[in-house]
Amino acid sequence: MYICITNPSESDCQKDCKLIKSVIMKNKYYDLIDQTFDFPQDEFRTEDGELYFHDIPLMEIIKQYGTPLKITYLPKISSQIQRAKRLFNVAIAKTDYKGTYNYCYCTKSSHFAFVLEEALKNDINLETSSAFDINLIQELHAQGLIDKEKVIVCNGFKKEQYIENIVGIYKEGFRNVIPVLDNKHEYNMLDEMLEDNMEPMSLGIRIAAEEEPKFDFYTSRLGIRYHDIVSFYEEQIKQNKKFHFKMLHFFINTGIRDTAYYWNELAKCVNVYCDLKRVCPELDSLNIGGGFPSKVSLAANYDYEYMAEEILAQIKAICANRGVEEPHIFTEFGSFTVGESGATLYSILDQKQQNDRELWYMIDSSFITTLPDTWGINQRFIMLPINHWDCEYQRVFLGGLTCDSEDYYNADSHANAIFLPKLQQDEPLYIGFFHTGAYQESIGGYGGIQHCLIPAPKHVIIDKDEDGEYTTKLFAKEQSYKSMLKILGY
Ligand SMILES: Cc1ncc(COP(=O)(O)O)c(C=O)c1O
Repeated sequence: MYICITNPSESDCQKDCKLIKSVIMKNKYYDLIDQTFDFPQDEFRTEDGELYFHDIPLMEIIKQYGTPLKITYLPKISSQIQRAKRLFNVAIAKTDYKGTYNYCYCTKSSHFAFVLEEALKNDINLETSSAFDINLIQELHAQGLIDKEKVIVCNGFKKEQYIENIVGIYKEGFRNVIPVLDNKHEYNMLDEMLEDNMEPMSLGIRIAAEEEPKFDFYTSRLGIRYHDIVSFYEEQIKQNKKFHFKMLHFFINTGIRDTAYYWNELAKCVNVYCDLKRVCPELDSLNIGGGFPSKVSLAANYDYEYMAEEILAQIKAICANRGVEEPHIFTEFGSFTVGESGATLYSILDQKQQNDRELWYMIDSSFITTLPDTWGINQRFIMLPINHWDCEYQRVFLGGLTCDSEDYYNADSHANAIFLPKLQQDEPLYIGFFHTGAYQESIGGYGGIQHCLIPAPKHVIIDKDEDGEYTTKLFAKEQSYKSMLKILGY
């Protein structure tokens, strides 16, 4: 309907009021965003109906490289690391906290050489999660990107190869490597591999946290049970001169959230810290793992300042109550560090109206392979069109190209629907998923890399001959660290 500005009651006005109509109707995609969120935001703005990400004109990038396309905006990695340091250092000052803040980059969130190079510009420690990660550390050293003083926190359930690699770099001179025990067997392996006359190796233990009540099981499979930790230390580690017990670690699967569950788990862990500190004076560090979220919605309102301050205030209060010195704090933020540096861009190939209410836009790739978290854990990201912001919008479902019916995306984190501009004749519609820089490549197996760098297994082909005898043939050996590191750009 046309509404005339000079004669608003006249719905049948003959004048050309197109412009006026567009102002009043507010039916463009831009209007939808403008009315729903505070927009523009730090990293997003539009110009002439097109989206800019950190002031980069994305249409230019698309014209140059085409879609589907992954992009990494490197400066965001450094700025997030600096932000984490600032948040905790300000919280230390505000709470008059006596320990220090130590940022570790959790390599599993993105192992790429260009990511590590950028992260290492910021005077950071590193966290590893499997055997090949240690090869990665050696490669970083060979390239002159780290020295042997670097603090390397080694997490994860450790196969013999991982323990061997940890002991290997320790013997090479990485004196600040800290294996965090996931189980007691790892301790025995380390003990066997270390010689008596060596300088003691720093050691940590991961506490097996209780899972959120609605989870499928009660206690995390990762780490050692709360009740076993002090006795394990007293019975085995205390008298062993090969070790210097330094760190207690925990990681809450749901991430760091302002929930009763999180604060309760934190308090339990700090209490274990205090119990242990009483019998182990050399213990001085509490590693609270990862879990700071990245921004997955234009409506995100996570209060990072409050959370950092509250974490320190709670640790401080419990320690004061128990008469224990406050620990140094370590974090291992993965998603927070690299998530917001990444985006994945697609074009819409066509639309399909499958019934009166369901209109599909088909992307030129697959969600299952390029954004596996959307499929595996129903993760939501910020999804925006790159062009046509000045066109009318409609509700759509996004479909991937695989034959898998689960290959779709149909909801934002703030709404159970998605909206995109209507398709136009003159130019295809391009869309972007933003803040996709953590985990998606390794989980999706990009180029042959794997989650936590756990190698692809050997593959054996089995057949049977006419006599019913079976034969085997090795199709592929287990993936090597060299092939993985090559894909990652080392
Ligand atoms: C031990 C440990 N540290 C850090 C992280 C990183 O978590 P996030 O990416 O949520 O910060 C994880 C994630 O699985 C983890 O298991």
